[in-house]
Amino acid sequence: MLEGATISGLKRDDRPARFATGIAMSVANRADFGRQPTAGRHELHHSELFTDAALIDLLDHMPRAQVHALTMGSDLTRPQDNRLALHDGVSGADMLRAVRGGRLWLNITRVDRADARYRRLVDQMYGELAAVVGGFAPDSSQATLLVSSPHALVYYHVDGPATVLWHLRGHKRVWVYPALDERYATREALEGIFAGVQHEYLPFDPSFDAGAAVFDLEPGQWLAWAQNAPHRVSNLDSLNVSLSTEHFTPDSRRRARVYAANRYLRVRWGLANLSARESGAGAMMKAVVHRLARLAGVDPAQTKRHVATLRVDPDAPHGVTPLDPQTTPARALA
Ligand SMILES: [Fe+2]
Repeated sequence: MLEGATISGLKRDDRPARFATGIAMSVANRADFGRQPTAGRHELHHSELFTDAALIDLLDHMPRAQVHALTMGSDLTRPQDNRLALHDGVSGADMLRAVRGGRLWLNITRVDRADARYRRLVDQMYGELAAVVGGFAPDSSQATLLVSSPHALVYYHVDGPATVLWHLRGHKRVWVYPALDERYATREALEGIFAGVQHEYLPFDPSFDAGAAVFDLEPGQWLAWAQNAPHRVSNLDSLNVSLSTEHFTPDSRRRARVYAANRYLRVRWGLANLSARESGAGAMMKAVVHRLARLAGVDPAQTKRHVATLRVDPDAPHGVTPLDPQTTPARALA
């Protein structure tokens, strides 16, 4: 927790403390929260933290290593067209201009660490969400601010942690697919994602859409789904701003431990068909073995990496220009 923290030499904790989040959901949806796709309302889009001026200020002052700019193609089955773009030396205003006129997706990660105002807001949001849902008690959370071009997309993927998407500006369509269903995401893929060795993208077949729940989001709506439900996103014809929050509970941590341990035991020791049960003595034993292996340095997991091949350029088509390999060697980001 960084209340009052000084980031990049600037004290960022001198603004209004509380905001009326207006978080609400229908009574009928409360039992589905965390189990099925669930939508609700909020008032966060009226906050000063998500205006153009706030986004530019954030981009100009936060550590740029926490900002990832990605462009993309249009074929939903080709996540390899998602390409990382460098942006050191590009002002916040030019970043936003490149997004508005280009084909870019900015992931402003750990915005809650970069600026205490976002941390406070996320704490408040989760406090109020827990009060609305009842019985929901996450013990920690983190937030990524998403700023993306008209018609930009996020390829079919699955996230390890449980997430909530708080939509703030523009319009987007979200497809959510069944969680923990081998037809949509294999157990092995999920194990790799929890182990941090595999990108979240999954093979996509357009026939999957028959099993999807589809939501058109407008500012003032939030959407949640079951942990590990695959999903994809397409922006409609406007610049989009959303806050994506991840939250952690004892149950979600247990799942992460069991899947990562199963991967280790499968890859390192050839143990197949291990149970995905998340509780009980077997789950605990596997987690202990995996933890000891990691402490001993015998888990050979390779961390996933992105390699930048582009640079953000607000004056270029799609808002990016290729890196010149003569002057700027491709750079890997963890
Ligand atoms: Fe996601």
